[in-house]
Amino acid sequence: MSFVLAMSAIAREAGALLMRHFDQHLKIEYKGEADLVTAADRASEKLIRERIRQSWPSHDVLGEEQGLSDSGSEYRWYVDPLDGTTNFAHGFPVFCVSMAIERRLPDSAQRIAAVIYDPTRNELFSAEQGKGARLNDEPIHVSKTTTLKESMLGTGFPSHKRHKNPNIFFYHQLTLRSHGIRRAGSAALDLCSVAAGRFDGFWEFNLNPWDTAAGVLIIEEAGGRVTRFDGSPFELNSKETLASNGIIHDELLREFADIFAGRGLEALPDPREYRR
Ligand code: IPD
Ligand code: CA
Ligand code: CA
Repeated sequence: MSFVLAMSAIAREAGALLMRHFDQHLKIEYKGEADLVTAADRASEKLIRERIRQSWPSHDVLGEEQGLSDSGSEYRWYVDPLDGTTNFAHGFPVFCVSMAIERRLPDSAQRIAAVIYDPTRNELFSAEQGKGARLNDEPIHVSKTTTLKESMLGTGFPSHKRHKNPNIFFYHQLTLRSHGIRRAGSAALDLCSVAAGRFDGFWEFNLNPWDTAAGVLIIEEAGGRVTRFDGSPFELNSKETLASNGIIHDELLREFADIFAGRGLEALPDPREYRR
């Protein structure tokens, strides 16, 4: 069985578990200020780890809730057992399971397979290195939008250290230069939206490897591009994720360079003026 088929079965099982929890009243715990974790995050990761152990006992796993189990294996899984926890905890139905497998050789590491499952819509996004990306078995491709001003973009804001995050400035500038920005609350699904052509671009500061490992492969296999904010190659520990259909990427990079440099910024309107 291919990795993607086996991963899809695990993701669907974890997604069904999340839906059972979603329909119940939840006990929310706090990892930090506004950083929620639910019983569902933990139960989903436990299930995924058990399934990986049953079929591939030697593989290593980096999961958001339990951290890294590292035995020096050639294969490492990146698991976000519930991406969109804040949505989930508030009953807002935008969340998913995200999993990727990386093959680590002495001189390189390559992500070879990825699956992201949205159990609220029964949408399973997947990709295998060199074999394209799919949504529920149908091939998907990034959009063909050619300019930023005709684009719809996605972004996200972290749930911790929000006071240190400059993203609101980027949100403001890019809102005024595009058809608009969506902030749906699940970075993995945002990346899938770029892959499926629903968004033309996406960016976020400070994402973790379990947020991006699967979605980045799915975008690349769907014909898109992912870099850091200065155009240098994306890496799982980059903490900078800029994804697009590839066509508008250079325009986005120029916008990012201008915003970082403070060039051509639109001033924030004064709410007191607006009121009059
Ligand atoms: C979060 C979501 C959110 C993003 C945050 C992530 P979590 O993941 O992906 O969209 O803006 O940065 O931490 O905590 O729900 O797994
Ligand atoms: Ca996440
Ligand atoms: Ca999570």
